Amino acid sequence: MPGSKPHVLLVATEVSPLAKVGGLADVVGALAKEFQRLGKVKVSVALPRYHEVDKCLMSEHITPRRREEFAVAIGTQSLMGAIEHVVYHDIDVYLVDQPHYFKRNGIYFDETYKIDYADNLERMAFFTRFVFEALKVLDLKVDVIHAHDWQCGLFPFYLKSLYKMDGFFKNTKSVFTIHNLSYQGIFSVEQYGILGVDWKYFTINGLEFYGHINLLKAGINFSDMITVVSETYAKEIQLPEFGNGLEGIIREKAAAGQIVGIMNGVDYEEWNPETDEYLPVHYTAKSLDQKKAFKMTYLKDKGISQPDPGRPLLGMVSRLVDQKGLDILLEIVPQLMEQGVYLTVLGQGKEEYEVRLRDLARHYAPALILSITFDVAESHRIIAASDMLLVPSRFEPAGLTQLYAMAYGTLPVVRKTGGLADSVKHGVTGFVFEPYTPEALLGMVSQAIATYKQNPTQWEKMMKNAMKEDFSWKQSAHKYLEIYKHLLQE
Ligand code: ADP
Ligand code: GLC
Repeated sequence: MPGSKPHVLLVATEVSPLAKVGGLADVVGALAKEFQRLGKVKVSVALPRYHEVDKCLMSEHITPRRREEFAVAIGTQSLMGAIEHVVYHDIDVYLVDQPHYFKRNGIYFDETYKIDYADNLERMAFFTRFVFEALKVLDLKVDVIHAHDWQCGLFPFYLKSLYKMDGFFKNTKSVFTIHNLSYQGIFSVEQYGILGVDWKYFTINGLEFYGHINLLKAGINFSDMITVVSETYAKEIQLPEFGNGLEGIIREKAAAGQIVGIMNGVDYEEWNPETDEYLPVHYTAKSLDQKKAFKMTYLKDKGISQPDPGRPLLGMVSRLVDQKGLDILLEIVPQLMEQGVYLTVLGQGKEEYEVRLRDLARHYAPALILSITFDVAESHRIIAASDMLLVPSRFEPAGLTQLYAMAYGTLPVVRKTGGLADSVKHGVTGFVFEPYTPEALLGMVSQAIATYKQNPTQWEKMMKNAMKEDFSWKQSAHKYLEIYKHLLQE
């Protein structure tokens, strides 16, 4: 329709605040809001309806619109599901309701046994096919399907395979965003039948990867444009060290101009120390005493009856996985504690890291505070209360917590990689180290501790510098809009 706005459908398995495991949720949620604010496209969102989503559906901001039930074929069976159209803060959200697949205690894996669900391929194939069919049932023409991460890699693939001949999707383009190349969605070829497509797609230029099905590769090979979440990461993934076996095709796509790095931003409605709903006090760069007072309150709440304001509070909010630098951090915890610091860690993940952290917390209690759980309110409190935030990642496609930390005047100590390298300025807004070794990490955290203890004027200046940085979504959202525009003109 000439004159009407292009319709962009964001598809993802996490969308904040409806369902979240990590940064993917923050990004898709914030991007939808920013597109809505900019008003240049019509934006809609589709995600599975998990238990977690149900809680949000009680919110006053949700208006239910329509529910349609129908079946789609998955492998040899036909399965019923429902598409639910709700409006959340003026954004159209389409929930795929299929309790057998999505009403489980975890999103990707069983939280009790910490193993991926065995039927993840089937779950994602169902979600994807169901969304395509739902668009037809609802007669909803979308111009761009913007799919995120391996879980949604089948969207570009089905668009170019199953739905190629379907007139309804004749003009639909796809964009695929890689948030993390180390998660690829690799499945046994024995499950190929579930996909319901010809074997001709099981090739090196399709979704075959060393004899397996690879959904991230499907997204890369079949989308019209690929984006990754920072400029440095876009370069890093062309190297074997970061490419996880896909560096070859990434290099090819980059050479063809089909990969762009677009840095993530911050949703300052969610992450703002002046208004943060999770904090009992609020502050700005002009009222940093409030931040200091909150640190004392936080430490007292954690059982430290007379906290010493001269001791820095080091925070960490992270999935506890290899990517996040836990191995080098765990080695140096004793040396850090000896320097007279408080350390608070919030996270969950790999059993080995949880066990080692629990041991350390027992040993250094109460100065080492540990919360092995997922708790959004606590993540905000840690980022506000801490003096510095540790992000020693082995690799980091973008990273959000260092951006949140800066907004709260909490100086990030980061490794020079991916989006961490692109966002933190050493000595200005935080501390940056490079070699991935316990020594280099210890050296940099010690430097930060020394600055905090011996040079409060410098510290406060850096806090103010960090709080002045602007990582709002506007600029990055415009870059995505340019991509959509370009694709739609082709
Ligand atoms: P990643 O997506 O790799 O986990 P990011 O830094 O991009 O890393 O985003 C992580 C997001 O998840 C941030 O919003 C962070 O606050 C949040 N987060 C991580 N672990 C927890 C936790 N245990 N509880 C609450 N929020 C968490
Ligand atoms: C991924 C990355 C993280 C990034 C997030 C959102 O999970 O690990 O660096 O910030 O996605 O894009």
